Amino acid sequence: MLTGGGVQGLEIRELPDPTPGPGQIAVRVGATSLNFRDLLMSRSTTGRIPLSDGAGTVIAVGEGVTSVAEGDRVAGCFFQGWLDGKIEARYHEAALGGSIDGMLSEIVVLPDYGVVAAPRDWTDAQTATLPCAGLTAWNALVEGQQIRAGSTVLLLGTGGVSVFGLQFAKMMGARTIITSISDEKLERMHELGADETINYRNSENWERDVLDATDGLGVDLVIEVGGAQTLAKSMSCIRFGGEIALIGMVSGQAEVNPFPLLSRSANLRGVYVGSQRMFNDMISAINVNTMQPLIDQAFPFEDAQSAYRHLRAQTHMGKVVIEV
Ligand SMILES: NC(=O)c1ccc[n+]([C@@H]2O[C@H](COP(=O)([O-])OP(=O)(O)OC[C@H]3O[C@@H](n4cnc5c(N)ncnc54)[C@H](OP(=O)(O)O)[C@@H]3O)[C@@H](O)[C@H]2O)c1
Repeated sequence: MLTGGGVQGLEIRELPDPTPGPGQIAVRVGATSLNFRDLLMSRSTTGRIPLSDGAGTVIAVGEGVTSVAEGDRVAGCFFQGWLDGKIEARYHEAALGGSIDGMLSEIVVLPDYGVVAAPRDWTDAQTATLPCAGLTAWNALVEGQQIRAGSTVLLLGTGGVSVFGLQFAKMMGARTIITSISDEKLERMHELGADETINYRNSENWERDVLDATDGLGVDLVIEVGGAQTLAKSMSCIRFGGEIALIGMVSGQAEVNPFPLLSRSANLRGVYVGSQRMFNDMISAINVNTMQPLIDQAFPFEDAQSAYRHLRAQTHMGKVVIEV
């Protein structure tokens, strides 16, 4: 439970087991995963169970539920009500671990339409990496610029969204360029299939390296998670007609001159996680590929605070998991 005051304020509370009402299901959570958002939520939210991302097994279904059965392995959807179509403001009223209680719990009750079937043969820990970071990267790659073989994608840093972006882009046959503050992390990204790597600490003008690596043309898509320190640079290495998927601001809010977008006829598209339909599309793709998520470290439920601190230190690559 979040009690305010950041990570220090995260407390374990004993509550009665919830039971599903009509149209609801109860899920025994096996694992959850952390996102950068959860660090922000720990400071701004009180009285809520945290975390958008979790996976587990259905242990009971309420009256009238036919789409899900006891024993099914599922993941919760970040937006409980965004099933398909364009995003609408009202979907924010049911965002797990934000406007409503989240997944860091032994048992959660959700509407039957608030979950998707887990990828075949994936553990709960693996499945729990998907709902926010995985789906955001998928949405960025597939729903806007429609990345395919021959496209070039730029990933910034080696956090959850960026590593999924790298893995999915490779799955689609795209060429990938990834940045990081650490050569050791970049070595690991090579092993995961990155075609070009750039250390942004050693190469301050890394956007020029991106242009050099693309014969001066720039990239088709940037998965933009950096904000203040990266957005202007991303805008100057985007290809004519390309897209910047605006996802996050790990280095603070950016104030930029938008002219480079105009001159390149490029798009800036805000991406906010994704719908249940997109989540199911992503899982279909995972099920016919051999991809596995990169889990940096898994922490026990009782030590959730250490998991938050590990994420905050930014020494991780990919996802940080809490097993329940
Ligand atoms: N819009 C959405 O739907 C959505 C969904 C998910 C996440 N987000 C946002 O996306 C961002 C990333 O989230 P996440 O959960 O993937 O974060 P994360 O796992 O905590 O990753 C953070 C990573 O960002 C990299 N980084 C930090 N400063 C950087 C800089 N100046 N330039 C390039 N990379 C830098 C670091 O990688 P290295 O150590 O390798 O340098 C760091 O490990 C956050 O702002 C989050 O709020 C938005």
